[in-house]
Amino acid sequence: MSSHAEPRHAADGLRPRLIPNVRRQGGLVTNAAPTVRAFSAGEWHVYRDLRLRALADSPDAFGSTLAEETARPDAEWARRLASGVDSQMNLPIIAEVDGEPIGLAWGRIDTSDPDVAVLYQMWVAPSHRGAGAGRRLVETVIAWARVRNVSSVDLGVTCGDSPARRLYERAGFKPIGEPQPLRAGSKLAAQPMRLPLKAAAEQGHRASGAARRSS
Ligand SMILES: CC(C)(COP(=O)(O)OP(=O)(O)OC[C@H]1O[C@@H](n2cnc3c(N)ncnc32)[C@H](O)[C@@H]1OP(=O)(O)O)[C@@H](O)C(=O)NCCC(=O)NCCS
Repeated sequence: MSSHAEPRHAADGLRPRLIPNVRRQGGLVTNAAPTVRAFSAGEWHVYRDLRLRALADSPDAFGSTLAEETARPDAEWARRLASGVDSQMNLPIIAEVDGEPIGLAWGRIDTSDPDVAVLYQMWVAPSHRGAGAGRRLVETVIAWARVRNVSSVDLGVTCGDSPARRLYERAGFKPIGEPQPLRAGSKLAAQPMRLPLKAAAEQGHRASGAARRSS
């Protein structure tokens, strides 16, 4: 991937990658970089398929389970994505390589805490990891959160040294508060992390304790 060929996105300005992302597709060698864009409302089936792939591939990374999400009827997936796309408080995003869906994430500002954006559902297909898609998904949600003028971006990440934890630390997230159960009945714990977007003085009362945020 050459830096001049990169599409413009929220991660522009970050250090260009020196290692080309070269993949063999249908006998052709391509050097397409991952791109990130917002989902459109009609793409619920793409969203559903990515989300189910994520839960099947990485069950310990998410608070939701494959069994719960598989049980949802199509109408609910369609409604969920359409309401996210239509709302200024949500940012469902998709990562693609050459038009192929390879990852997703969802930024959300809850009306109960409108000063905080939360990053959920981060996942990149194993075949496309290490090429910057995860970094672009995170940077896109951070850029959106800045535009929404919130004080921080929060998330929960399963405890342990993982690519996800390293990715978030590189983006500037810091642990905040004690680990919380990933989901009811699970032995796994998720570490709440926070990226402050405003100066400490503006953060005021929000300095201590983060509510549990699991993706
Ligand atoms: C976490 C996750 C989303 C990261 O996605 P990704 O697309 O691989 O992320 P990136 O490519 O941006 O960065 C990952 C690594 O590749 C490296 N990298 C990024 N672009 C690269 C490139 N062009 N060439 C070589 N290496 C590259 C990064 O430095 C990073 O290295 P490190 O983790 O070993 O320090 C992915 O691993 C995943 O889906 N994991 C399972 C689900 C999960 O844990 N989700 C998080 C829920 S909270």
